[in-house]
Amino acid sequence: MVNPRAPIHIRTYETTCPRADALSDIQEGSLTVRPVFQSPESSFGAEVFGVDWNSPIPEALVAQLISLQDRYGVLIFRETGLDNARHIAFSQQLGEKLEINPFFYGRENDRLGEPRLFDVANIELDGSLVKLDSRRWHHSLGNALWHTDSTYHQTRSKYSILLSHGNPVRGGSWTHFADTRRAYADLSPEKKAQIEDLVVEHDLWHSRKLASPIVYGNPLPHELAAKPPAFHKLVQTAPDGRKTLYIAAHAKQFVGWEFEKSQELIWELIEHCTQPQYVFSMEWVQGGDMVWWDNRQSMHRANPYTESMTARDVRRSTIIDDGPLASGVKV
Ligand SMILES: [Fe+2]
Repeated sequence: MVNPRAPIHIRTYETTCPRADALSDIQEGSLTVRPVFQSPESSFGAEVFGVDWNSPIPEALVAQLISLQDRYGVLIFRETGLDNARHIAFSQQLGEKLEINPFFYGRENDRLGEPRLFDVANIELDGSLVKLDSRRWHHSLGNALWHTDSTYHQTRSKYSILLSHGNPVRGGSWTHFADTRRAYADLSPEKKAQIEDLVVEHDLWHSRKLASPIVYGNPLPHELAAKPPAFHKLVQTAPDGRKTLYIAAHAKQFVGWEFEKSQELIWELIEHCTQPQYVFSMEWVQGGDMVWWDNRQSMHRANPYTESMTARDVRRSTIIDDGPLASGVKV
């Protein structure tokens, strides 16, 4: 049910048009769509109401949701009530293969006991809150940098679906999204020409080192072996046909360029993409909230864990890309 007087749990950051609070809901068949940004140039982000998550999702509805996803890039659903099994089942309707957590060391060593879900909660295996300065804490710092999931995989992933469980979180639990299609469109013709053919080396350990140089300055051998770097084009075509930037904090350097010069341009582009007019934030209000985003046409970042934050039990499935650009560039 859509509650027109629900408090605002979506934030935009600048008095640019379009703005979420100026938009009205759109009826799309049985679904009500509440866009965050809506304009002829670029629509981005939408809350979607009207999906009955108690039953398997019919294929026609899956197709409708994918069409909305292609348009908005980020879809938010509230009060889904999904459990792990139904979270996975819906994810499998969106693509043949899900990513398997490479750091899954058996059900007894994993809080979720499910290798197709990534545990991104601030909760340890024994149920206690993650400790300040633990390795898990430092690993999470990388998620607070602007990034795109799995760019460091040679066969990349298209969608991520993050689902919350349990009680509402106190202490500020938000996820932030940036529209890389609209950001690309606003680049100057000179910049577009400069970057058109660039290939990027993506490395998970690069972003971890940026976020936490002391702990991740020298990743452990099994960590390095689990996640070698990958190569992808910087400028790509999004599912809706528009050009977009495929970039992330994992982006280490351009093929054929020096590291320092690469980092300069990479962060110039990330800063461009994450200007207020391209960004919105969603608050995790209660268990059952779910956000599904397209890594091929957006970036995101999490709020970092804080010591005042209560349990944030969020779990992610990641759907492997099966499109023409999925396997990146051979170098
Ligand atoms: Fe992420």
